Amino acid sequence: GSNAMWGGRFAEGPAAVMREINASIPFDKRLWKQDIAGSKAHVAMLGKQGIVSAEDAATISAGLDQVAEDYAANGVSEDLTLEDIHMQTEAKLAQLIGPVAGRLHTARSRNDQVATDFRLWVRDAIDETLAALGALRNALLTRAEDHADSVMPGFTHLQSAQPVTLGHHLMAYHEMIVRDASRFVAARARMNQCPLGSAALAGTGFPVDRHMTAEALGFDEPTRNSLDAVSDRDFAIDYLQAATNCSLHLSRLAEEFVLWASQPFGFVALSDQWSTGSSIMPQKRNPDAAELVRGHAGRIMGCMTSLMVTMKGLPLAYSKDMQDDKPPVFEAHDLLALSIAAMTGMVQSATFRTERMRAVAEAGFSTATDLADWLVRVGGIPFREAHHITGRAVKLAEEKGVMLHQLSIDDLTGIDARINDSIYDVLSVDASVASRVSFGGTAPANVRAAIATARGLRA
Ligand code: ARG
Repeated sequence: GSNAMWGGRFAEGPAAVMREINASIPFDKRLWKQDIAGSKAHVAMLGKQGIVSAEDAATISAGLDQVAEDYAANGVSEDLTLEDIHMQTEAKLAQLIGPVAGRLHTARSRNDQVATDFRLWVRDAIDETLAALGALRNALLTRAEDHADSVMPGFTHLQSAQPVTLGHHLMAYHEMIVRDASRFVAARARMNQCPLGSAALAGTGFPVDRHMTAEALGFDEPTRNSLDAVSDRDFAIDYLQAATNCSLHLSRLAEEFVLWASQPFGFVALSDQWSTGSSIMPQKRNPDAAELVRGHAGRIMGCMTSLMVTMKGLPLAYSKDMQDDKPPVFEAHDLLALSIAAMTGMVQSATFRTERMRAVAEAGFSTATDLADWLVRVGGIPFREAHHITGRAVKLAEEKGVMLHQLSIDDLTGIDARINDSIYDVLSVDASVASRVSFGGTAPANVRAAIATARGLRA
């Protein structure tokens, strides 16, 4: 038969494929809690404004509670004939309370309804994400504190550059995560306006109280333009952009775990819980979770791209293309939640092989800059010349197969007579990191100060 919601105008029902392409219930059933909350706020307002009687409003509200109980207990069925979560809920309500259910949709359209539901969902998703990022931050801070003094090679071009501390390295990721959290916080603040009462596109002639519904749903205020309100998905794009940035950072951290867990690096041993074996090569301990976090970043970026491309050519106001807004947001959320949790687990449980890190830092002539800086500071030599002298020292050490601090004083004075014994004070990796006391530098004292500051931060 024809559709129950608009049957007045239609003699025939939709073709099967029409029904299928039109239905969003398979995915928008995830909005059921928000849909119930939005409807309850709406009907309370209708009752208070006398748009429906107080009695009908109470009946509808209690009916919505029952629908919610049913959803919670039995899930939401994917009845394609009911198209989406909004129709599904209204149909269930009608089954429970009869024709009075038909008063709920007064002064409302699915256009402002879905815009409201989806904002509520994204807002919850942001809160969940922020909590998860908080846990990751804590994990990074804890491990950074454990390793405020652990020396490792710092890299540029993935070549040993200068020694840093592992604590400093982990705190670099902490900085990224703090920025990510701030993007979610900003997205949340920007989106916290309520579309409800914008109706289909033009607003409504019923005496609605939009401030009341906005407040009831925890929004700061109602949206200011009805056309914008029903056609805006910036809040979802903001969310996806924040998620994408965050996933890029997680991917970089994941990449380091993959690299560090490899035999040539040997910087980290992943715990049993966070690695997998191979069905053919018994010696293997693979960093699959890290690889998947790296992979998921691509998919999350794809979700962002998907919604941006969906929106870019749409005229005002609502178009059905916008129904495609939800799958990429849901997918990105699920992938990001898994990625954050996985990186948190890996950071918490990894064994950092600090002797290996130290040995690689020492072997890589990573204190060459310290030697050059000493020549500048103590010998008064211009940096460019100091750089040249140091290059010769590195070359000699390489030829002799020794580290810089293993060159004899004769070797060194042979290169430049202005060198003396006190050079050895700066050639160790510990001396090197301890000397980097500029604000934001890798000196252990600075790292500890950075951790203390970070612990005081509220995202
Ligand atoms: N399921 C629809 C969506 O997610 C709800 C809005 C439908 N509005 C409409 N005018 N057909 O976009």
